[in-house]
Parts: sequence; C-alpha cells; structure tokens
Amino acid sequence: MSVSKQVKRITTHTLQSMKDKGEKISMLTAYDYSLASIVDDGGIDVILVGDSASNVMAGHETTLPITLDQMIYHAQGVVRGVKKALVVVDLPFGSYQGNSRLALESAIRIMKESGAHAVKLEGGFEIKESIIRILTAGIPVMGHLGLTPQSIYKFGTYTVRAKEEAEAQRLLDDAAMLEEIGCFALVVEKIPANLAKKVSASVKIPVIGIGAGADVDGQVLVLHDMLGITQEFQPRFLRRYANLYDEIRLAVNKYVEDVKHKDFPNENEQY
Ligand code: KIV
Repeated sequence: MSVSKQVKRITTHTLQSMKDKGEKISMLTAYDYSLASIVDDGGIDVILVGDSASNVMAGHETTLPITLDQMIYHAQGVVRGVKKALVVVDLPFGSYQGNSRLALESAIRIMKESGAHAVKLEGGFEIKESIIRILTAGIPVMGHLGLTPQSIYKFGTYTVRAKEEAEAQRLLDDAAMLEEIGCFALVVEKIPANLAKKVSASVKIPVIGIGAGADVDGQVLVLHDMLGITQEFQPRFLRRYANLYDEIRLAVNKYVEDVKHKDFPNENEQY
C-alpha cells in the first residue's frame, strides 16, 4: 500500500483559529498555474485571484475592464496549481453591484467553474444585499473596505482613505456589518494604521491589511509588485522581496546574445 503524504488544506476556519491564537495570516495574489504552484509551495496561507490581474496581467490602467469570464480563466489555473492555500477570487466590477441576483449568479459561476474556495467583494452597506444572497448559497465571502479600486472614479485618486472622522466611522460600521452578516474575513486597503488596528480589535473575524500597518491579523501584497516584476508602482507600503524585472531582462539579454553568437545550442543541447 502506498502512503501518500496528505496535505492539510487551509480553510476559512483555519484563518479564524489563526486570528484567535494571534498567528498572522499571509496572503498574496496569483493569476496563473505556474506562479500559484510556487507561491503555494512557499507556504502562503491564502492566494487571492485579484482583479489586479486587470493591471498586472492585461496592462489596463484600472481594475474595471476585467470580465467575469477572464477572472474564471485565471482562477482555474490557480486552483490547478494549489495544494494547500485557501483560494479566494475577486468578483469583478459589474458582476455584483446593485443586483443581488446577478451577484449570486456570478459567485456561483466562479465556484462551479474554477473550483475556488471563496469570493471577495468590494464595499460596505451598499452591497449588503448582494453579500447576504451569496452567503445564503453557502459561499464564503471576504469583504474589502478602505481604498476599493473598483470605485476609483468615485475617489478620483489612489490616496489613503478614511483619514477623516466621518469616513473612518463609516468604515468601522461597515466592518461590523460585514462581520454580523457572516463574512469570514476582511481586507482593508490603504487606511491609517491606527484605524486598521481599531478595525481588527473591533471585529472577531480576521482583518487582512494592505498599506494598513502592522496591527492587523494578516498582510496581502500583489505578487508582481513584491517580486519586482512591476516597476512603476512604488507606494510606501510596498516591500520588494526580489527584482525579477532585472533578472528576467538579463536572462533574455544573455539568451539573445547566445543565439546571435551561435553559442546556443551546443552539441550537448541537440539530438
Ligand atoms: O485585486 C487585488 O489584488 C486586491 C488586493 C490588492 C487586496 O484586491
């Protein structure tokens, strides 16, 4: 009998017990099979198939153009590459706002066609009905408050959100509501660190920050940013763990040179 090593998968319950024990949650984006496999092997807790794919994979200026079909395509590759992490998929712009029936249909398509484990939606009270409807189908939902890039044309800029008392209070109220209706976790993006700390202390569910300081229950970054594949995007909160742009460019340069100088392939690299 062969003894195969069973990998213990991360679930929404695992994340809750991590918060309860004070253990930080790590989350990164991924959009394809190959990188998702590496990220999973690197020990990440959560992989987000973010609609930031619109920027880093497709080259759009905002996250608005990406479609539900394209998100499902990205998610399918990621799910095939992942053995352990929880896979969360963004519902893209136009697939859930103002129509809870459409929201449920979109979330069901993601779960059914990609095999992902949960969905993420941007917003608070204005999308409450959509979230409730998705939750009633047994689909875990992650919230997203603060800077919500699908609303960039309402904000006008990508600067820090909720610096004023009124917006900070609204965000705290939204977080309480998301917890009450049953979201399993919450992303807070680009808000003051002291507000993020308050949010994390005020709800029992895990709060995962990006540009929200250290006093939250976990951190998320866009993979292509932290690997240094993207170059122009340099917000203060971003720590680069590699400079793959230069590494890949140098490797390509070397390959071009070898081909031009008839150095590749050599006799050991042919049949
Ligand atoms: O789409 C995305 O990558 C995100 C993260 C920045 C949280 O929503």
